[in-house]
Amino acid sequence: GGIILADYLHGIAVAAQGVPTTLIISLVAVLAGLIIGLFVAIAKMSKHRILRGIATVYVDVLRGTPLMVQVLILAYGLPQLLKSNFGFQFNWTHFIIVGFIACGINSSAYMAEIIRSGLQAVDIGQTEAARSLGMSSRMTMRYVIVPQAFKIIVPAMGNEFIALIKETSILSVVGIVEVTRQGTLWASSSFLSFQAYFGVAVIYLIMTLTLARLVSFVERRLAQSDRG
Ligand code: ARG
Repeated sequence: GGIILADYLHGIAVAAQGVPTTLIISLVAVLAGLIIGLFVAIAKMSKHRILRGIATVYVDVLRGTPLMVQVLILAYGLPQLLKSNFGFQFNWTHFIIVGFIACGINSSAYMAEIIRSGLQAVDIGQTEAARSLGMSSRMTMRYVIVPQAFKIIVPAMGNEFIALIKETSILSVVGIVEVTRQGTLWASSSFLSFQAYFGVAVIYLIMTLTLARLVSFVERRLAQSDRG
């Protein structure tokens, strides 16, 4: 009995083995989310009511349902649906691609809102001034709005990446062996549940704190260029 330091270190080392998987899923998801989110943000600000409606429903559904449920639908629900309706059989639980898709699509809804709110945060006076100087609405967007919105959007995207690192832990329920799943597997073979999940927590903390520092550095740099 007693506190055995080696068990804690073992727990941390085991969790660390999941880091590449957690990071690659978070990175692919945030990039996919950015690309899809850009289109969704544009659709949401469009003049066309139907397009705007579709984008609104997309964002509402993805942000209004738990990521856990979305992952379960994609990993277990979709294969069953395709099998019973089209006789197409496949099993893709344990596969990292489920993580790319589920987290990427989920993130795109959050990204769309980050982009949209970033663009809308730029004072309307900026648009009015640019237009009164004779700039087209396209030029205004390109040279006035986007550069200013950038300073709001980039740090928020960094925070989305940090959020995703934590949220990918949900993928452990469909057998993807990322940081949390590494801990669960070791917990059930060693019976050291506390040390296992302590190690998992330490690893997430190292990743999120490191990235949070990076984000605030970038944020300060972007703010500096404002005053330059
Ligand atoms: N925890 C929330 C949920 O389960 C958010 C999920 C995703 N978060 C994100 N920033 N992409 O629905």
